[in-house]
Amino acid sequence: MLSEHLRRIAVAQVERGRAFASAEPPELSALVERALTPAEIHQALLKERPLLDARLRLEGPEPSPRSLREECAAVGLLDATPLDTSYRRLFPSLDLGIYCAHHAMGKPSEVLLRAMEEHHGHLFHHGVGAWEVGGWGLIRDAFRARVADLVGADLLRGDVARFENFSDALAAVLDSGIRGRLLSGADHFTSARYVHGWWAERTGGTFVEIEGDADEWVTTDAYIRALTPDTAAVSISTAHWRTGRLHDLGRLAAAMDATCPDAALLVDGYQSLGTVPFRIDGLPLRTAVMGGGIKQLHAGTGSGFAWLSHALLADLDFHRTGWFAHADPLAFAPPPLTSAKGAFRWQTGAPDVAPMQALVTELEVLATYAGGSLRGAIDKVRLRTSRTIERAMRRARSAGLEVVGEEPASQRGPILSIRVQRGEKLLERLSADGIVADYRPSAPGAPSGLLRLSTAAAAFDYELEYALERVVSALG
Ligand SMILES: Cc1ncc(COP(=O)(O)O)c(C=O)c1O
Repeated sequence: MLSEHLRRIAVAQVERGRAFASAEPPELSALVERALTPAEIHQALLKERPLLDARLRLEGPEPSPRSLREECAAVGLLDATPLDTSYRRLFPSLDLGIYCAHHAMGKPSEVLLRAMEEHHGHLFHHGVGAWEVGGWGLIRDAFRARVADLVGADLLRGDVARFENFSDALAAVLDSGIRGRLLSGADHFTSARYVHGWWAERTGGTFVEIEGDADEWVTTDAYIRALTPDTAAVSISTAHWRTGRLHDLGRLAAAMDATCPDAALLVDGYQSLGTVPFRIDGLPLRTAVMGGGIKQLHAGTGSGFAWLSHALLADLDFHRTGWFAHADPLAFAPPPLTSAKGAFRWQTGAPDVAPMQALVTELEVLATYAGGSLRGAIDKVRLRTSRTIERAMRRARSAGLEVVGEEPASQRGPILSIRVQRGEKLLERLSADGIVADYRPSAPGAPSGLLRLSTAAAAFDYELEYALERVVSALG
């Protein structure tokens, strides 16, 4: 049972979420617009008054979730350090209701809003000078360095490319000359499964997809058993998108080394990077680690990425190009093109720098959780989130809910997956209770499926526990 104090924080969040949801956005945005329109600038102070009033109305007279949380933490009623609570302060929108859909779409920090304003402000103020004066020209290198760190690698053993999303990265890598036998499993995310089939049709390659159980889970052992000496690539997701169960990539890599040492390992780290430590040490020489910024990295769309080992990059046949793939784009040299080195060769024209800036910003925010060390922060996040999942699994089971899989929290990412009937109705009920989660039927149109609830770096145990209480009450 959730203590009365912690439930009070959760309820304050739900109430705040309701107040914001019921505010009339046209009214609020009209006020913002009026306060900012240059023609009315002389009246700006007068115009801001209604804005301040609207804000006060939205906030209400009750203590804010933040102050309740910090009071509870100070007297030991909430298991949280001052660093945990101050880190959470960077994510004020998590206090609008109980957010448990970090695995679907992460809510960004407040810093991202400022960073994006500043980023676009450079174009606004400097025009073409944004590249130099505004630092746009340096963003790509910051992106490469931060992503390499995120995947437990570096820029000595490989390089980083930015893609629109994960699917784009996987399709680009596979379509750059990987031929022969591709091994994957039904546990991989739908999009990857489409890409695998598309690749086989295009190249005449042999695609072997290992069958999953009723929830499309495939064990690491099943991958290991399906390896053959002629396997050219293994494509696998670190965490099962439906249930959060983790693969043991160390064991898979050792088996690949024994059976198909030249095969490429194509890792989708989307559901675990940023919350589960990842290291490329011990993985095959030809490895790619891909992901994107939408979910637990809360950087929004357009920030797909791939870190690729030099050994893999060296074999790829890049199938597109443009002036930014030139070794010196700003030389505007006449053809033929002198190719850049490394992953830059995937570039075409001018890169989309805003999503790179967004991801770099959020990774820097995450690093503040451990004094600037991204890997240190991820280690801490792992301890907290697996504790939250462990507690939530215990609570859920003792309330008679079916948590999918026997695996302990140490073999799961930050997702809790519960089998339910008629999940669409349940989701509506949860939404009315101020809880955001998601539901996936076992198959299109099936009457049962999986309710997914997740925790995150800035979330607390009480939030998932409160959400579970509401699930039990709704089913009850
Ligand atoms: C494991 C996994 N990979 C990839 C994605 C998303 O891929 P994309 O970036 O291509 O949209 C998801 C989204 O749910 C996912 O769960």
